[in-house]
Amino acid sequence: MTHKNPTYTIVQNIRQLATPVTNGKPFLRGRKMRNMETVDNAAVVINSDTIEWIGKDADLPDQYSGNANIIDGSGLVALPGFVDMHTHMVFGATREEEFAMRCSGATYQEIAAKGGGINNTVRSTREADKSKLRKQTMRFLDRMIRHGTTTVEIKSGYGLSENDEVKMLDVIKMVKEDHLINIVPTFLGAHAIPPEYKEHREEYVELVCKKMIPYVARKKLTGFCDVFCENGFFTLEESRRILQTGIEYGLSPKIHADELSPLGGSELAVEVNAVSADHLEHISDKAIEMFAKSDVIAGMLPGVSFYLGHDYAPARKLIDSGAVVALATDFNPGSCVSYSVPLMMTMACTQMKMTPEETLTAATINAAASLNIADKVGSIEKGKQADIVFLQMPNYMYLPYHFGENHVAAVMKSGTWLEYR
Ligand code: NIG
Ligand code: FE
Repeated sequence: MTHKNPTYTIVQNIRQLATPVTNGKPFLRGRKMRNMETVDNAAVVINSDTIEWIGKDADLPDQYSGNANIIDGSGLVALPGFVDMHTHMVFGATREEEFAMRCSGATYQEIAAKGGGINNTVRSTREADKSKLRKQTMRFLDRMIRHGTTTVEIKSGYGLSENDEVKMLDVIKMVKEDHLINIVPTFLGAHAIPPEYKEHREEYVELVCKKMIPYVARKKLTGFCDVFCENGFFTLEESRRILQTGIEYGLSPKIHADELSPLGGSELAVEVNAVSADHLEHISDKAIEMFAKSDVIAGMLPGVSFYLGHDYAPARKLIDSGAVVALATDFNPGSCVSYSVPLMMTMACTQMKMTPEETLTAATINAAASLNIADKVGSIEKGKQADIVFLQMPNYMYLPYHFGENHVAAVMKSGTWLEYR
């Protein structure tokens, strides 16, 4: 038997390495989200796809240098790869004509009520075949990793029929196999009532609960079930039934809650012990207190408020109360056409008064926890997957500060080095 010494990859001379301090916890709550560890003049050692050692360049143990690929990280800041915990990035066509209508005064709700919005994308997604959807999604993923995202959640929800929802989940499965980015699929059959069920919506809820959830669970197409709990979409009662059915079939609940109106989706999230509740622009004070005492992760999507001209969610209040807060793009063709996590960090700082440290924690370890993968990704720690983003900047605080520019110079994804300098 021969023993082959492992080949290490060492990134040396890193100007600054910054990572949330997890102390073995899956997420950071409240003000602890500010706990950031920084190492100036750092080195990181990667063994295959796993982080093996992190420390000061000067302290790099000799044992690694003998058999290593050395990469020069001078001038670069190393951060955990971003985890975009909420996207709808598989869709048939873009909706720039609706954007123009909104610029002329139409609201998102008015456009949706006239058959636009989500149902507009449902039409184009039903028409598209898997290969077109796959190709477009692969292109988006290439751009996303270029912006520092190394894990992305992708929801179904533009099919809204048995076949088309499965088609979307199949496409997500295909790109998961083909792309370097980690992909986490979520079933969102309850995204909107499709037009053919407009007059008998209870039959669509029945279809979701009796057919779709059992099927996607049996085929292991996803581990999560989401619902858009909102006036004109799914009522509180329907949302409860859909999420509880998901739980019966082993799917962890997620929810789009209190986005356009204070319907009570946040309280429902605590009731069903959802892994995350996202949007929360109209969350009640009572629900904020409930979040503080629960492990439901509050997903902030400031890009949507910015893009639709709506109020921002009370991230400051949530954090100060002790809630667990995550941050994502919600990349989709209607309410946020951006996959830049750093841009969301800037919005979270300037519009929601989160600190740069809090936004970094929200977009890494807490986002990973909302996908139940915080043991593998979300921080730069020994034993975790080597998902590290390298940015041309003086320090980590510079990232939300200098917006509208892509500072990413290189990405280490599961040990593979992608360079963009
Ligand atoms: O998360 N809120 C519901 N769904 C999406 C919007 C999707 C669309 O407009 O196509 C969201 O914002
Ligand atoms: Fe969404």
